[in-house]
Amino acid sequence: MKIVHTKHDVRDAVAAARAEGKSIGLVPTMGALHEGHLSLVSTAAAECDFVIVSIFVNPTQFGPGEDLERYPRDLQGDAAKLQPAGADLIFAPDPEQMYAEDACTVVSVGSLIEGLCGAHRPGHFDGVTTIVCKLFNIVQPDRAFFGRKDYQQLVVIRRMARDLDMPVKVIGLPTVREADGLALSSRNAYLSDEQRAAAPKLHQALQAGVGAARGGATGAQVERVVRDALAQEPLFDVQYVQAVDANTLQPLGEGTGPMAIAAAAYLGKTRLIDNVAVED
Ligand code: PAJ
Repeated sequence: MKIVHTKHDVRDAVAAARAEGKSIGLVPTMGALHEGHLSLVSTAAAECDFVIVSIFVNPTQFGPGEDLERYPRDLQGDAAKLQPAGADLIFAPDPEQMYAEDACTVVSVGSLIEGLCGAHRPGHFDGVTTIVCKLFNIVQPDRAFFGRKDYQQLVVIRRMARDLDMPVKVIGLPTVREADGLALSSRNAYLSDEQRAAAPKLHQALQAGVGAARGGATGAQVERVVRDALAQEPLFDVQYVQAVDANTLQPLGEGTGPMAIAAAAYLGKTRLIDNVAVED
């Protein structure tokens, strides 16, 4: 497994793999890797001949006052985990490598970013789609792998690829969780012991919503059930709870149907997100 830092080196490695007839898989990440990321890499290795993992803490997707500076960075630790997971190449560029000083092109999807996290993190998804578009252009993968943990991100990237005719298959994979239900996240490292003990209640609240939805509750009723469950934990500062159409991400309101229930809540300064799907 090689680590490269420039676009030029990535393109050379991809050209060499292509010359051998290999299919290319891409797993974009921001590093501080855990089992959630590694599950994407293992699946990519099972489905593709040559797997590239990008590690880049993308400044354009962080808002003012967010955790860009303190976001955990550990390239050597990440590399040690990626080799056994089946990665062939790590692409770890510097910000200067990815963004020219006078870069002024932004890829932005429309209505899908108005709700959920998009409503609370202005500019965030433009940063995500722009960097992922750039990574797709640099690597030109056959398949790219994303976690359902960031459900809105997955739907947004899938739509970008479709709308802009990008020749890549966007694959979404299940959320990897701790035994107590907490979704793995690089940001869990910020939690104090007390906050860590409270954190699984986010998933439990969403599960209560699933139960209500399976019992025929409307979107609005499901949201109330989840909010009531979250209110039992005083450490949570809830940012949003929404039951949305799983495909359009539009709020269901008094409707039912294939549903994604998503929530974001702060524990202290740490923002946790999670979501669950309710099949019809
Ligand atoms: P990052 O938060 O590092 O996540 C990289 C990928 O890992 C994403 O597709 C995310 O959904 C997935 N992931 C994170 N936690 C997971 C879990 N518990 N189970 C399964 N998959 C999980 O998401 C980003 O980086 C960035 O926005 C990026 C797409 C790299 C663009 O900068």
